[in-house]
Amino acid sequence: MSPRGVEDARARGKTILVLHGPNLNLLGMREPDVYGALTLEQINERLHALAAELGVELEIFQSNVEGELVDRIQEAAGVVHAILINPAAYTHTSIAIRDAILAVGLPVVEVHLSNIHRREEFRQRSLISDVAVGQISGFGADSYLLGLRAAVRVIASSRSRALKTRRPLKARRPA
Ligand code: DQA
Repeated sequence: MSPRGVEDARARGKTILVLHGPNLNLLGMREPDVYGALTLEQINERLHALAAELGVELEIFQSNVEGELVDRIQEAAGVVHAILINPAAYTHTSIAIRDAILAVGLPVVEVHLSNIHRREEFRQRSLISDVAVGQISGFGADSYLLGLRAAVRVIASSRSRALKTRRPLKARRPA
């Protein structure tokens, strides 16, 4: 296993919630020149295949309804280890999704198929990016796969940080 693989192995068995926002159910037929030709089902299959390779579990949910996305984020507290989200149009408008992310305190990776920073001005602002660990934008369906790898890395490194902070306590124990 590569050194990266060994690091990522710390995330094995952990669960990542994948959230797809509005209109992403139409992928494949929706503006394929912007969003690509793959359907959401095909993207989800790729995510599942990569998750199996990385040894993590996925819960995947799509909704066109803002409140349903908020509900899923709230339900994820204490149940999943990270969230991978393409909030779609809600990226640019949803204080509710932003607040839910802040409320649950889970690490979030934001992804976009298109590069939102080279599109219309209203798409260049994300209400999510500064409450996310990071954003991956512009790589088509690969944004999701890169985002999943990033989420695994975040989970693995947060565990290793926790282990590091426990070490000094051990060291203080009498021999
Ligand atoms: C999107 C970009 C958003 O601006 C847009 O509203 C979407 C998809 C993307 O993945 O590129 O629906 O999030």
